[in-house]
Amino acid sequence: MHQCRICKGSYESFISFGKMPIANGFLRSEEFGKEYFFELATGFCPKCGMVQLIDQPNRDMMFHENYAFFSSTSSFMKQHFKEFAELIMQDIRQKSHPFVMEIGSNDGIMLQNFAKAKIRHLGIEPSANVAKVAIENGIDTISEFFDEQLAEKIKAKYGQADAIVAANVMCHIPTIHSVVEGYRILLKPDGIIMFEDPYLGDIIENTLYDQIYDEHVFLFSVASIGYLFGEHGMEIVDVIPQTTHGGSMRYVIAHKGARKISQRVIDQQEKEKQLGLHLPQTYMQFRKNVENSRDELVQLLKDIKKQGKRVVGYAATSKSTTINNYCGITSELVEYISDTTPIKQGKFSPGTHIPVKAYENFKNNYPEYALLYAYNHSKEIMAKEQDFMAKGGKWITYVPKVGVLG
Ligand code: SAH
Ligand code: TMP
Ligand code: ZN
Repeated sequence: MHQCRICKGSYESFISFGKMPIANGFLRSEEFGKEYFFELATGFCPKCGMVQLIDQPNRDMMFHENYAFFSSTSSFMKQHFKEFAELIMQDIRQKSHPFVMEIGSNDGIMLQNFAKAKIRHLGIEPSANVAKVAIENGIDTISEFFDEQLAEKIKAKYGQADAIVAANVMCHIPTIHSVVEGYRILLKPDGIIMFEDPYLGDIIENTLYDQIYDEHVFLFSVASIGYLFGEHGMEIVDVIPQTTHGGSMRYVIAHKGARKISQRVIDQQEKEKQLGLHLPQTYMQFRKNVENSRDELVQLLKDIKKQGKRVVGYAATSKSTTINNYCGITSELVEYISDTTPIKQGKFSPGTHIPVKAYENFKNNYPEYALLYAYNHSKEIMAKEQDFMAKGGKWITYVPKVGVLG
């Protein structure tokens, strides 16, 4: 039994993925000996509905001056955040001198839109290397971990915010009560919080088990987010499903009673009941689906190998660390992984040590198959890789089902 980080109730693990390294811990061969591993296991709390990691590595092992994830590597995500920013601008346009804050602002992919529009903004980004890129681009950024204490300091210096934004970061923070309390402190009485993260409903429906890795300590649902914010005098007033990261949910939050609750919130709560997100047996079935997905993927890769065909991994995503380690995929099955991020190139994938190489290697010598680790960017990638497909290249995918495309 474990203690829930949200409601303090007890809960049990429903799946373990075994020993796992840091998902973004791309490393050099001389570092193989000192690689850090922990047990990646997940549980479901029946009281508040939160799905969470049993153990999470220390945050300084994940977010630091060598953080490998730069948000702006995806042009699709740039467009996504431009549209997200426009939605917030609509909400604050009546305000005089509005102030917008973002938690986990990374290289400024979202806030650059506010900087351009000359709207007062502040980003909180603890990973110094990505924060530096934002600062160099004229985006106001503090390189620290956001929590209740920092919220008090920000309030004293900058005042309260009209809008607080966060994307793909709330689900990273185990001490989330402190973050949400920080929001309560910083949010104006009529202010709005909008944040989005991978959605539990999509993960369960499509067996997206690679969304489970060290950084994602929580998998949120409308039920668990409602419970969490309710503890801090706030409530969900709208929910807007997103296609990003294989299926995400955008939650719109306000102080209790400050705004009208949309019918969409009620509908989504109903949908979660139908999906059985409140029932332990749903997670037992998920575990079976995960095991089947793993077995099918490994079999497919072995069959291709037997035929003497080449397989290259497409994009060294954080999520691929769970796939590679849980399925035991090494360079025996995947020759190398092509990735466009310079600091990943020349290194090896965490745990199973598949070489990561620059995209030019792929472009200049197509393999027969590409294993699509970055399925969440598939629209962008399919548009870019017409030539690969025209020359007979095929995609191996495992989402929502294991199979070959093209
Ligand atoms: N919002 C961006 C980045 C997501 S990655 C996007 O959606 O693309 C998560 C980011 O949150 C990382 O840059 C990480 O350094 C940052 N982060 C982690 N813990 C944090 C905390 N406690 N406060 C603020 N940012 C945090
Ligand atoms: P993420 O899924 O963890 O966000 O990581 C995305 C990774 O995918 C990042 O390292 C860049 C890489 N990538 C490519 O190599 N080629 C592409 O076309 C895209 C969209 C991403
Ligand atoms: Zn709980």
